[in-house]
Amino acid sequence: MARLRVGVLISGRGSNLASLIEAAKAPDYPAEIVLVISNRPQALGLEKARVAGIPVCAFDHKLAASREDFDRQMDAALREAGVEFVVMAGYMRVLSDFFVNAWYNRLINIHPALLPSYPGLDTHRRALADGVCITGCTVHFVRSEVDAGPIIAQAAVPVMPGDDEDTLAARVLSAEHVLYPFALRLVASGAVTVSGETITRTTAGGPAPAILFSPSPGEAPPPA
Ligand code: GRF
Repeated sequence: MARLRVGVLISGRGSNLASLIEAAKAPDYPAEIVLVISNRPQALGLEKARVAGIPVCAFDHKLAASREDFDRQMDAALREAGVEFVVMAGYMRVLSDFFVNAWYNRLINIHPALLPSYPGLDTHRRALADGVCITGCTVHFVRSEVDAGPIIAQAAVPVMPGDDEDTLAARVLSAEHVLYPFALRLVASGAVTVSGETITRTTAGGPAPAILFSPSPGEAPPPA
């Protein structure tokens, strides 16, 4: 089985990267991580990649003349490594149009909210301030507009009484660690394809991602 050659972009601790590295250890996983790039040389996630024996590029975006110059540097490194598909895992910089177009429909991101609700930063603080009962995370193809693009998979996560930003972020992050390997598997295996702005599920099988962490339909609500 030819595995999809994946490059992962990170900026920080790399817990999503770790979940992808773990998933890709399975012999039947349809993707392999062949390069990890960070725009912050001190990112903790780089060490996770090194320990797993994955080549890394530690670039510093502050040294680049422009956003596009920096993205061209990443693009060159990805192509040099034979990368076929790019996964953003906590990559905290807006990508240039050049990069988004160069990797169009071969570039995905995970966002800690149920898009199209709460794009951007501080998702958990805003969700708590609005008093929502359900939040979650979304894996989507990347477009030039921030946190927009065809949705591949979502996991719903409940907001619990007494939650603060930290407890909610931790619950959502646990869901991210399940959702991202699941979503990458769908795309890398060809079970999900994108055409224009539409996602098509080409094969049956596997749980519907949007209900992974939701109560079952018809389940009684908890006692008041
Ligand atoms: C995750 O919550 C991800 O959704 C967001 O940034 C965070 C990255 O965490 N884009 P980690 O670096 O993967 O631990």
